[in-house]
Amino acid sequence: MANVPADDVLLAAYDSFEETSAIPIPKNPLEQVIGQKKAVEIAKIAATQRRNLLLVGPPGIGKSLLAQAISFHLPLATEEVNVLHNPENPERPSVEVKTRDAITSEQKMFKKLQGHTVDVKSVPPFVAERLGFRCRRCGRFSSSRQSVCPNCGVDKFVLKQAPDSPFGDLNPFANYLGEHERQDQVRTTRIGENGREEIVHYERQGEKIRVLDQKFLEKLDAMKKKTPRKVIVPLDRKNFVIATGASETELLGDVRHDPYGSHPGLGTPPYQRVLPGSIHEAHQGVLFIDEISAMSYLQRFLLTAMQEKKYHIVGRNPHSAGASVKVEDVPCDFLLIAASNINDLQHILPPLRSRVLGNGYEVLLDTSMPDTIENRAKLAQFTAQEIRKDGKLPHASRDAVNELTEEARRRAKQIDGTDNALTLRLRELSGIIRLAGDIAVGEGAELLSREFVRTAVGRAKPIEEQLKERYGSLYKAQRGDVGANETPHDQKEIS
Ligand SMILES: Nc1ncnc2c1ncn2[C@@H]1O[C@H](COP(=O)(O)OP(=O)(O)O)[C@@H](O)[C@H]1O
Ligand SMILES: [Mg+2]
Repeated sequence: MANVPADDVLLAAYDSFEETSAIPIPKNPLEQVIGQKKAVEIAKIAATQRRNLLLVGPPGIGKSLLAQAISFHLPLATEEVNVLHNPENPERPSVEVKTRDAITSEQKMFKKLQGHTVDVKSVPPFVAERLGFRCRRCGRFSSSRQSVCPNCGVDKFVLKQAPDSPFGDLNPFANYLGEHERQDQVRTTRIGENGREEIVHYERQGEKIRVLDQKFLEKLDAMKKKTPRKVIVPLDRKNFVIATGASETELLGDVRHDPYGSHPGLGTPPYQRVLPGSIHEAHQGVLFIDEISAMSYLQRFLLTAMQEKKYHIVGRNPHSAGASVKVEDVPCDFLLIAASNINDLQHILPPLRSRVLGNGYEVLLDTSMPDTIENRAKLAQFTAQEIRKDGKLPHASRDAVNELTEEARRRAKQIDGTDNALTLRLRELSGIIRLAGDIAVGEGAELLSREFVRTAVGRAKPIEEQLKERYGSLYKAQRGDVGANETPHDQKEIS
């Protein structure tokens, strides 16, 4: 099978299938995009060459789907973005970009610093007692999870002394008052190889004890003393970020307000209050902007971000303690995929469009595809995909797929005026599949058959079409809405 092209496999399956469970669904999300041949080709280039894209066309033809599929083909992110405390000026935190390699070697080093584990019997007895492994009375060893010695029945854990109560030791209920103390770690000293006294740290680790000597402890302390930081864009992240353009802060980031902001020592330090915007979260990935024209003035910021590939984060509420905080040069090297319908093209900032064109493509998506056997097979694949995606629908019969194909033909003719074509306004078709499936489920049917598709098509009519049916034309319907004494034509006989 491996050498047979995917399209041939699909055609063979389409030739003989009885229900959609027999139709193969490709794993590659780009191959799940039906039709849109040109757009898919360009999408592949965009992913490998890192090009921007403007996808143009009406709703429901796969713009979001395409954008998401592209992100699937991008390499994994290699950089993590940190915001660092700046001791000289806490309101100007700095940025540090760490590579995957640096992070991996740091993790390895940290692992080395974890010390080694030893058997509970090889540490000084008092350490084993405090960590809950050894009984203070009889000296027997047992699991630290057993609070009572299985040998002599004594409570293994040291009672916390209540220093402020003269009766602490005498209180017979102390045990029941949760005053148990099982220590997790013990620090003590020993004479080291060079004859000097050194610190040793013992820590319970499961049924073993971890030992850290002075050298390890010093390295660990040095690591902890490193500049305090906050990861704002982690290494492992999704590489497909949707920006709705609803607000400046969502797109460009913000610094959270802190009621104690101006009182050092009381509040949360500025670097910890820094929040990335979608442009930063999309670093090394895809930033998808649906209806880019709706972004209005924010397009300008987007343009700057694309030119500079970095953008500062500031507090955007002038009344907030965050307003005085600014982080310069936060990286935002993303691939922009924007979507627009045809009418709104004029509302896209011209320099932004030329930015896309300068390093990318503008693609007009198709609203229909020729009615060929290959494309009919694709529509069957689409039906199988939608049923699988929904998860609650029965599979469709061959008849049902044929009925959907007919509907796709009708719609291509009706909506787009194209003959011998199948519609690519697939969100609507997907709605019909779902509705038909729900009806089938409601009737306890095991298969989504032709009759359910027919019923669904009848019910799924958009309101404009329902109005046309009832009033004769959209124009009459609208008049009917204005003048209350106008009578819709199908009700004239009655009144
Ligand atoms: N070309 C297509 N191929 C496969 N499925 C599609 C296609 N177009 C639309 N769909 C279906 O319709 C849904 C909505 O499509 P979407 O990509 O959000 O459209 P748009 O972004 O153009 O409005 C998709 O999740 C998918 O189920
Ligand atoms: Mg969409």
